[in-house]
Amino acid sequence: MLQLQQLWFGHSAQPDETIPRIQGKDIMSMYSTNLMDSAFRGVCKAAENNMRLQQELLMGWTRFWPGFSGRGSNPVESARQVPQLWSDSMFNVARAQQELFAQQFEAAVSSLEPALGVATEGNGTPPAAEQPSTPVPSSAVAAPPAPPQRSEEEQFTVGTAKNISQKVAVVTGAGSGIGEAVSHELVKRGARAVLMVDRSESVVDLAASINESAGRTVAIAKIGDTTDEGFRKRVFSDAMEEFGPVTICVPAAGIARDSLAVRMNKETGKAEVYPIETFRQVTEVNLLAPIYWAIEMVACIAEDRRQRGVGRWEPEERVQGVIVFLGSVSSQGNKGQISYAVTKAGLEGAAATLQKEAIFHGVRCGIIHPGFTDTPMARALGDDYLSKNVLPYTQLRRLIRPEEIADAICFMISNSAVSGELWADAGWHPPA
Ligand SMILES: NC(=O)c1ccc[n+]([C@@H]2O[C@H](COP(=O)([O-])OP(=O)(O)OC[C@H]3O[C@@H](n4cnc5c(N)ncnc54)[C@H](O)[C@@H]3O)[C@@H](O)[C@H]2O)c1
Repeated sequence: MLQLQQLWFGHSAQPDETIPRIQGKDIMSMYSTNLMDSAFRGVCKAAENNMRLQQELLMGWTRFWPGFSGRGSNPVESARQVPQLWSDSMFNVARAQQELFAQQFEAAVSSLEPALGVATEGNGTPPAAEQPSTPVPSSAVAAPPAPPQRSEEEQFTVGTAKNISQKVAVVTGAGSGIGEAVSHELVKRGARAVLMVDRSESVVDLAASINESAGRTVAIAKIGDTTDEGFRKRVFSDAMEEFGPVTICVPAAGIARDSLAVRMNKETGKAEVYPIETFRQVTEVNLLAPIYWAIEMVACIAEDRRQRGVGRWEPEERVQGVIVFLGSVSSQGNKGQISYAVTKAGLEGAAATLQKEAIFHGVRCGIIHPGFTDTPMARALGDDYLSKNVLPYTQLRRLIRPEEIADAICFMISNSAVSGELWADAGWHPPA
């Protein structure tokens, strides 16, 4: 391996534990076409990186060394600054050089892995494709950041599977309706693993049928209650151990307990108010649980980044994590939905706050507000209610299909430029 490393880089810049183990039989397979292709791509990539490094170094020098850029109008003052500028620029350029060598090494080693079929050491370490590249401190080089290098596969999938392909996702409420449809769509778009969380055991059969049609084991059923903190932590730590950090979270599990805030009992003449215990239950499931599933993911990503020595997210890394909350058109208020509407409006505040906080760790956050969607939750309202109170106020005159919401959610995940709220309401315009 040392020889291979020297052939590649002319030096051994990495500590031993990051070097893949190669057995004698692997050496024999070095003559396979795949490996030669892979080796060729590695050499090209290393050469490209080297070229960029040289350019950035040169630009670094022109920025930090006044003699190159002609900065400083006062020659005496400029001369005084020279020793400090000299040592600053030496330091900055050396640091940039070190980090670029590290990136170069990782890129070439990861190009070897598919051909050799070897795993990097260390349990649970995500493959290089999942890891964002080490950021180059923006103060270190003068050049604007080079556009991220995209593999051929990535370029091909832009706009469809971008930010989903090879990612690990958690979807709650995956045993029915929108959560089930999102799980299907994530698998179709190339997710590496989708943890399908639901308190209903039906999620086991759903995961099995998704795996069968995908022809690979990608959906993993997790049965439990989303309000259970221990269960939530286990789901994330198991995922971390098996696949690496979860970077997509769609906490869709939700319930509705609809009733008027104040209802007159005609027999007793008394006013009955919405039961506070029911309100608490809806808040636990629809508001607190989704928020905690989302921030659990952010916490795992933050810890993983720290362990890898990466701090604040830098634009060069590309965005790596996404949360999409399930709001509702009812967040704007809906008769008979006091608790449900409050929880959905509350998620807007959570999304807006996490949008500001979580980007520190490279996580985007948004919220989708579906209109009435054809799932057991909406069907529970009854055909009569739907035809009198829903369809006339929906421009499409039909319920939205869960797949349509799943498609919109995957759009929010895929497109890094999308942030904030998305209304997918089929033209919902309720009466006052
Ligand atoms: N269907 C609609 O018209 C509509 C509209 C807007 C928003 N939404 C929201 O979309 C999300 C999904 O709704 P849906 O229509 O697919 O509902 P659904 O009832 O079909 O599915 C919800 C799933 O969540 C699971 N679940 C509920 N509480 C849970 C808990 N505590 N722990 C684990 N699992 C739990 C259920 O078992 C079920 O499988 C919900 O948050 C809902 O509020 C739905």
